[in-house]
Amino acid sequence: MSKKVLVATVKPFDKAAVKKIEKIISEQGHESILLEKYEHLSELLKAVEDVDALIVRSDEIGAEVLDAAKNLEIVVRAGAGYDNIDLKSATEHGVIVMNTPGQNSNAVAELALGMMVYIARNCFNGKSGAELKGKKLGMHAYGNVGKCVAKIARGYGMELFAFDPYIDREVIEKDGIKCVESVEELYSTCQYISLHIPVNDKTRKSINYKLLSKMPVGATLVNTARKEIICEGSLMKIFEERDDFKYVSDVAPDCKDKIEASYKERYFFTPKKMGAQTAEANINAGVAAITQIVNFFKDGDTTFKVN
Ligand code: 3PG
Repeated sequence: MSKKVLVATVKPFDKAAVKKIEKIISEQGHESILLEKYEHLSELLKAVEDVDALIVRSDEIGAEVLDAAKNLEIVVRAGAGYDNIDLKSATEHGVIVMNTPGQNSNAVAELALGMMVYIARNCFNGKSGAELKGKKLGMHAYGNVGKCVAKIARGYGMELFAFDPYIDREVIEKDGIKCVESVEELYSTCQYISLHIPVNDKTRKSINYKLLSKMPVGATLVNTARKEIICEGSLMKIFEERDDFKYVSDVAPDCKDKIEASYKERYFFTPKKMGAQTAEANINAGVAAITQIVNFFKDGDTTFKVN
């Protein structure tokens, strides 16, 4: 039976990705609807009214959207983090939620390393900077992005460490990475910490003074995860106390203006969330999302269901 699939993205996919998604939808006999760069929730509420499936990125999908989407059976977040979707409400509405883990990881990892080089070279201000070679890099969580960061960082000659209580030590060590015993040990060992934890009730504001103050001289915090995991009060305190501390982040913290005013060349923030913003990542995540939807309608396949 033909289904209506809405691709709703405030931050659009690359055109090539949209083409591929639409091609798969029409080849499977379904109908595609595209809503890009919408500015008001009302546009989304109207667009979801009669659709059976929905593909989104960081778009907020809460109870109001789920109420409006009377026929909705499945939402796929084309990406890894699904903190933008109200899972409880989706379950109450009988809607399946999936993500597409791993599909945009390389893009995010490349940005992490790019920001590290940029900040290590003093934002290319002409003054003598530092190399990444020989520095200790700690992956705070060793999922898909953490793994990609480690792989690229190895090419730079960095010494690699990881902490992830959800992944077997053997898996981490098999990749030639030192698995530390605790999160405190990770922060006290590594000059560079790359954050790869999701945001949830446990992790919100969890990167705090206690952890940051443990970092050795030459500390750089690299955040391609979510800004909400940082305790911004602690971040300001560390910036004030230590002139060696640097912070690079894919999207700015709420305290951006204060940092920019006082700590020149010790920070870099992308103006918009840019980690997954490559044609390759858009194609990978977008095609995975529509393939999962097609398989769900065809065979009831619920691999990657998160609710
Ligand atoms: C993710 O969780 O997959 C990344 O943060 C990318 O998010 P985006 O699709 O909104 O760029």
